[in-house]
Amino acid sequence: MSGTDRTDGSSTEEVLIERARGAMRLAYAPYSRFPVGAALEADDGRIFVGCNVENASFPVGMCAERVAVGRAVVSGARGFRRLAVASMGERPASPCGMCRQALSEFGIDLQVISVNETGERRAWTLEELLPSSFRRADVDPPRLPPQGAA
Ligand code: THU
Repeated sequence: MSGTDRTDGSSTEEVLIERARGAMRLAYAPYSRFPVGAALEADDGRIFVGCNVENASFPVGMCAERVAVGRAVVSGARGFRRLAVASMGERPASPCGMCRQALSEFGIDLQVISVNETGERRAWTLEELLPSSFRRADVDPPRLPPQGAA
């Protein structure tokens, strides 16, 4: 499947969710046993998927959402419309704080939808999940001169 089923190149929500579920099935989560899949839809209609990739050194593990962001950026995509997250918890998982910040770099208007295996759904905008976020504009103002100079 191309992932595209509308004439404007976008996908239905169902397609995006199915892509997230497909990615969830590829998760490497032997420690938490909590597989997560993410499907990120770019402005041009392309969909980039990610799954969580855990590690014996626990903090090294990566969330599905940030894996998807990395795959998108290396493919040249930097603007996104929607993100679908699939997990198997009692309620659909919302992206963790680190992933919210990572996603916000590319637009706070992102639509986020999360599903679990029982068919329950939750939806937010990224702005709702991460209000008053720290942004690029906050880094841009003048800063101190380089430290360490005599
Ligand atoms: N995880 C994600 O991949 N995305 C989320 O939105 C929430 C948490 C992962 C991290 C870890 O591998 C496992 O789920 C349990 O926290």
